[in-house]
Amino acid sequence: MTVAQQSQTALVLGASGGLGQAIVAKFLTDPSIERVIAVSRNCQTDDLSAAWISNSRLIWIQVEGDYSEDSMTKAVADLVPFTGTISRVCICHGLLHADDIWPEKRCEDINEASMHAVFQANTVVPALWLKLLLGVLVGQQPCVVAALSARVGSIEDNRMGGWYAYRTSKAALNMMLKTFAIEYARRVKNVKLISFHPGTTDTDLSKPFQASVPKEQLFATAFVADRLAGIMDEAEMDGQLAFIDWDGKQVNW
Ligand SMILES: NC(=O)c1ccc[n+]([C@@H]2O[C@H](COP(=O)([O-])OP(=O)(O)OC[C@H]3O[C@@H](n4cnc5c(N)ncnc54)[C@H](OP(=O)(O)O)[C@@H]3O)[C@@H](O)[C@H]2O)c1
Repeated sequence: MTVAQQSQTALVLGASGGLGQAIVAKFLTDPSIERVIAVSRNCQTDDLSAAWISNSRLIWIQVEGDYSEDSMTKAVADLVPFTGTISRVCICHGLLHADDIWPEKRCEDINEASMHAVFQANTVVPALWLKLLLGVLVGQQPCVVAALSARVGSIEDNRMGGWYAYRTSKAALNMMLKTFAIEYARRVKNVKLISFHPGTTDTDLSKPFQASVPKEQLFATAFVADRLAGIMDEAEMDGQLAFIDWDGKQVNW
């Protein structure tokens, strides 16, 4: 079987969040994708009641604990049989708030433990995936990898201040992706990396901050998943990192 004839696999990492679920559902509607592999801390039967959860093209991999490098390495071992077939990867991890974490309004709100937790989810976990996946992505199969970033990680765009941990973890994610793009261009030439800003989207992550967002600027997850899938379909395999938003427009670094 030639590579062109091989079945294609889409991989969604951090799949049980609002955008993760919508992206899984979107890929399952694409006939060119033979299987969708969703990776999450959550067992698929925990909270997910969507009809697509029983789709026979969906493979669910549960990562133990909070994405330790060991548990991620075990998940990647399960992906080895799909080496050379992966054409889409979405890295959907993100943390803005939790029971004991809240975005900082002023510098006195900076908290050591919160900052570590936010950086772990937003920067460290995506970097570990890109390290661990290198061996299963390398080959002839063109593959587009999108990491969900945020416009607030743009240094040029920062006019409001605040949200220290979230902003800086996304800026660090962007630099991490840029550095990976340089190494991947040498070692994994079949991969294109995208840093993607979804826009304000109706998920648990944005819920506490939606009141100030005009209705037309608050997107449904299915709309954003549609946009992202289209952007990935049209991505130029140029070995460069693109920082783009839901509308396909470039975001300033
Ligand atoms: N919603 C928005 O308005 C908005 C705007 C800009 C950017 N974004 C970005 O879009 C991405 C998806 O966000 P969402 O809105 O879908 O949020 P969400 O519903 O809260 O989902 C968050 C995702 O992050 C993962 N996650 C949560 N805590 C984690 C931790 N401690 N360590 C590792 N992973 C963790 C979860 O994976 P499991 O499946 O393992 O639970 C989950 O899939 C994030 O990167 C976010 O920053 C969202």
